[in-house]
Amino acid sequence: MTDRIYFDYNATTPCAPEVAAAMRTVLEDKFGNPSSLHWAGEPARAAIDHARRQVAAMLGSRPGEIVFTSGGTEANNHAIKGAFFACRDRTRQPHFVTSSVEHPSVEETCAFIESLGAAVMRVRVDRFGQVDPDDVRKAMRRETVLVSVMHANNEVGTIQPIREIVQIAHEGGAIVHTDAAQTIGKMRVDVRSLGVDLVTVAAHKFYGPKGVGALYVREGVQLEPCLHGAGHEAGRRAGTENVLAIVGLGAASELATQWIDRSDVLRLRDLFWQLLRERFGDSVVLNGHPDERLANTLNVSFRGRIGHELLSRLSGVAASTGSACHAGSHEMSPVLRAMGVAEPVGLGAIRFSLGRTSTQAEVENVVEQLASIVR
Ligand SMILES: Cc1ncc(COP(=O)(O)O)c(C=O)c1O
Repeated sequence: MTDRIYFDYNATTPCAPEVAAAMRTVLEDKFGNPSSLHWAGEPARAAIDHARRQVAAMLGSRPGEIVFTSGGTEANNHAIKGAFFACRDRTRQPHFVTSSVEHPSVEETCAFIESLGAAVMRVRVDRFGQVDPDDVRKAMRRETVLVSVMHANNEVGTIQPIREIVQIAHEGGAIVHTDAAQTIGKMRVDVRSLGVDLVTVAAHKFYGPKGVGALYVREGVQLEPCLHGAGHEAGRRAGTENVLAIVGLGAASELATQWIDRSDVLRLRDLFWQLLRERFGDSVVLNGHPDERLANTLNVSFRGRIGHELLSRLSGVAASTGSACHAGSHEMSPVLRAMGVAEPVGLGAIRFSLGRTSTQAEVENVVEQLASIVR
C-alpha cells in the first residue's frame, strides 16, 4: 500500500489510461482545424463526431443534442443564461426555480440573472439534503421558464427525485435542467428515462480531462448561446473546438457506462461507515441521505471537532470538507447549513469520496488514523 490515499474523487478524478491513450492520438496526428475542409481538418472533425456519438450513447440522446463546453461550470451557465436570454421577449419577468444546495456555478448564475430582472425561487431541502417535489409544485408560477435541480449533490451525495420534478415542471410548462456532474460515471444517467431537457456533464468527474464538458440540449429547446462568434457547435457555442479534450471526454463517456457495473465502491463505502460506527459510536454522524445517495460518497461529521483540523492531521490522505476557513475561523458549508445541520456537527464534517482504485486497506488505514487522532 502506498502512503498516499486519494479519497477525493468528487473533487476530481485522474485521467483513465484509455482516455490518455485516445488523447495522445490527437496530439500526435490530428492537428488540423476541425472546420477546415481539407485533408488536415477531416481527421479532427471525425474525432469530434466520434466523441459526440460516445457522449450521446452514454446519455441515451441523439448526437445532435450534445453541445461541447469547457466543463460543468460553462454547461450550467449555458443552460440557465441561455434559457433566460431566450425567453425575454416572451415573458416580462421570467421565473426560475432551483434548490438551496446547488453548486456555485448554478447558484451564482441564478443570482446573476436575478440581477438582470429574473425572479428566482430556491426550494428548501430536508435534513437529508433532498428536495420535496411538492415544494417545486408550490414554487411554480405561470411565468416559470426553467427548473434547475442538481441530479446529486457534490458534498453529501444526496440524489434528487428528478423524474418527479420533471413531471411537475412539464405540467406547468417549464423545462428542466439537471446538473449531472456528480452522477455521470457513478450511476446511469439516461436523459429519456429522466425526461429532462438539459443536462450538465463534466469530464473530469469521471476519469476524463479537466476543462471539458457538455450540455445535453433536448431537440427543440431554445437557448441563447453564451459565446457568440462563428457557427461552431451548430451555432450554439462559438470557438474552435478543443479537439484534444473533447476526444478525452468521448473516451471517458464510453468507459463510464462500462465501469458502473463493475464498481465495488458501494461495498467499500458501507464498510467505511460501519468501521467508523464501531470506533466512534454516536459521536460520528452521517451527512446526506441514508439510501438515496451516491455509492461512492461518505460525508461524516465528528461531533464537536473541526473537520479541517482532523483532515490536516490525517497523514497522506486527500479528502475534503465543504466548510470554509478564513483567518483561523471556520464557517460551515452552505450545503450542510441548508440541510439544517447544527453548527457543532457541521463544522466537524469531512467528505470522503471513493473511486475506481480505492481499496479496503485504504479504508482501514484512514479509520485507524482517525481513531488515534480523536483519542
Ligand atoms: C455538482 C457540480 N456541478 C458543477 C461542477 C463544475 O464543473 P467544472 O469543474 O467542470 O467546471 C462541479 C465541480 O466541482 C460539481 O461538483
